Amino acid sequence: MRLKNWIRHNRDIFRPDDFRYLLKQVTGTPEEESLVLSRDQLSRLDRIKESYADGVPLSYLLEKEEFWGLEFLMSPAVLIPRPETELIVEEAIRIIKEKRFCDILDLCCGSGNIAVSIEKTLGIQIRMYASDISFEALRVAAGNRDRHHCTVRLVQSDLFSAFKPDSFDLVISNPPYVASCDISPALAEPYRAFAGGDDGMDYLLKIIDQAVHYLRRGGYLVMEMGSTHRGRLSPYIFAHDSYRIEGWIKDYAGHWRGVVLQKRQR
Ligand SMILES: C[S@@+](CC[C@H](N)C(=O)[O-])C[C@H]1O[C@@H](n2cnc3c(N)ncnc32)[C@H](O)[C@@H]1O
Repeated sequence: MRLKNWIRHNRDIFRPDDFRYLLKQVTGTPEEESLVLSRDQLSRLDRIKESYADGVPLSYLLEKEEFWGLEFLMSPAVLIPRPETELIVEEAIRIIKEKRFCDILDLCCGSGNIAVSIEKTLGIQIRMYASDISFEALRVAAGNRDRHHCTVRLVQSDLFSAFKPDSFDLVISNPPYVASCDISPALAEPYRAFAGGDDGMDYLLKIIDQAVHYLRRGGYLVMEMGSTHRGRLSPYIFAHDSYRIEGWIKDYAGHWRGVVLQKRQR
């Protein structure tokens, strides 16, 4: 079959950017409509089309997603990385460089996209750790670590439970922070990667409470959050009195996306 004909029959099933990306990944070209599809290409496209129509995200069907300019292996065991998470990675890298930090933890690492991106950018000047409660997620993270020739140390841990106090200079985390009532029953990604309790803040508050014991004095916590969380997190952090708020991270659309805290020196 000619690519042109497959496109004509199937274009409407896909979102336009997904469609272009799919054709590029399977045929090497989104535009060469005179191309004749091989038997393998045709059966792969048809299989993907059926699952996509059933609601499976393209990243799972192609088993990869791009983040920080790198290609990451994907499986339904992990959250598909979002572009806004690059903002917290950028902030963490700025701080690590400026403070010459060494021991870094990516807490709730999922596919390992944050940890691998940081290590690929900074190289061996840091010791990078990444942890998740999900063994299946850690398997994907190990694949990504090896694919990118990194040394990220992967640890299965319920938040900080597997670590010793005072171990880290900087903790970066994109934890589950979606309010339970906002999670669609048709969600294709792991529920555990999203569910942050009634208001989405359960993990954010736990991490603020616990990180103070695992950070060294003057260490940093860089954490992604939901766009509505700033107003409620702010008084909590002030009352906590263990941190100085270094700043809040906004995305290009003007939504609050993260918080940067420094553990007090005393
Ligand atoms: C929002 S995903 C983040 C994935 C990845 N870091 C990213 O930014 O794309 C949150 C991750 O937290 C993990 N998680 C949920 N509960 C946890 C817990 N109690 N301790 C550690 N990790 C947990 C989930 O398995 C999931 O991989």
